[in-house]
Amino acid sequence: MKRPAPWPYPRWVAHRGAGKLAPENTLAAFRLGASQGFRAFECDVKLSADGLPFLLHDDTLDRTTTGQGRAGDLAWTALSQLDAGSWHGRQHAGESLPTLRAVAAFMRRNGYLLNIEIKPTPGQEEETGRVVAALADQLWAGADVPPLLSSFRPDALAGARATAPSLPRALLLDTLWPDWFEVAASLGCVAVVTNYRLMDAALVERLHGAGWRAMVYTVNEADDALRLLALGVDGLITDAVDRFAPATAG
Ligand code: G3P
Ligand code: MG
Repeated sequence: MKRPAPWPYPRWVAHRGAGKLAPENTLAAFRLGASQGFRAFECDVKLSADGLPFLLHDDTLDRTTTGQGRAGDLAWTALSQLDAGSWHGRQHAGESLPTLRAVAAFMRRNGYLLNIEIKPTPGQEEETGRVVAALADQLWAGADVPPLLSSFRPDALAGARATAPSLPRALLLDTLWPDWFEVAASLGCVAVVTNYRLMDAALVERLHGAGWRAMVYTVNEADDALRLLALGVDGLITDAVDRFAPATAG
């Protein structure tokens, strides 16, 4: 059995900044998550039409911004005009879509750690991985702890490895599809992040046996958290930043 490398990331990670308590993937969300005691955050990153990495979960703008249609079809000058806070509540009106650059500044200046989920517009997997990883490598130059890059899309992780091989990578799994283990190995992943319902003792043992870390998303109930902690998972991504923090946010 391989011995896992030292793991610098906190066990608790705030999903999209502050889960559902602030507009997801905005600086307001990271500030709220931090105020609840979190020191590590997950976010979703994709490319504008002119190739700038910014935060947005969905392929389209409709749910979480004042824009419509495919986000990856707009240049950053247009995306930067949108309101990404009003949908959540009037106290967040005018909140902008953040660039990865702005989020990196917030994380680095405050000593927080980031899990960048590469969330490509369909068809742009490899390019998104390449561009996001190259920029992250630049933005975190000299940092004690680099961002952890994750993706459901192996092509995105392959792109990331091509431009920034030293940044740690994790494969996200919503199902245990055929060959996932071999794919994670071939991509040089250091962790696998599964839907929390998939994680059990055998899977933790298999991941740890490969020298990888076992992480889970999105854990919002205390009984699930207790089960997963008892299994020895290394990271839990949660929306419940008000209920699992600050005492348990180590
Ligand atoms: O990175 C873990 C989690 O965020 C994956 O699912 O859809 O919330 O991005 P999703
Ligand atoms: Mg995500």
